Amino acid sequence: MPVVRGKAIEILFSASAIARRNLELAKDIAAHDYTDLLVIAILKGSFVFAADLVRAMHDAGLAPEVEFITISSYGKGTTSGELKVLRDIDSNPNGRDVLLIDDILESGKTLKFARDLMIGRGAKNVVIATLLDKRMRRQSAIDADFVGFDCPDHFVVGYGMDVGHAFRELPFVGVVTGDA
Ligand code: IMP
Ligand code: MG
Repeated sequence: MPVVRGKAIEILFSASAIARRNLELAKDIAAHDYTDLLVIAILKGSFVFAADLVRAMHDAGLAPEVEFITISSYGKGTTSGELKVLRDIDSNPNGRDVLLIDDILESGKTLKFARDLMIGRGAKNVVIATLLDKRMRRQSAIDADFVGFDCPDHFVVGYGMDVGHAFRELPFVGVVTGDA
């Protein structure tokens, strides 16, 4: 088991399994027609997945524009569940197809907020790609169009995902099991 920062990490999805899945996802994404496709990665957790997925999309024949948005909840863990844009995209999504990329679809609040925002700005259609789906945690009526893997109900790290900004650099997705 890999040990990072003195913690043993159990690997859930290996780097090679993720790489294989990204190629399949990119082909699935490229099987549709898009109008002036705008890819929006939801920071920060999706940055590694988005970097790999857009390159796989290039290999699959797509040539999107790529943007970033940072969304944060007011007082995480509170019941208000209010979200705000910390750093917005610079592009106008009006009349365009939008692909939102996120690391995990959990309650669904983040992606529902982002989708509604882009629809409200006139996006023609909004589709969602998520590396991981924790379906058992869903609170909003939303699903991803492209899912890497169904994720067990554990707090996961790596491949962009963090605990207090640590573990993002891991090339795999894993669970911190305890002190090594
Ligand atoms: P939600 O779908 O609005 O609940 O938001 C999901 C977001 O919470 C993801 O984009 C992650 O940033 C974060 N998140 C949820 N579960 C995990 C996890 O297991 N590890 C790391 N971040 C997580
Ligand atoms: Mg996130």
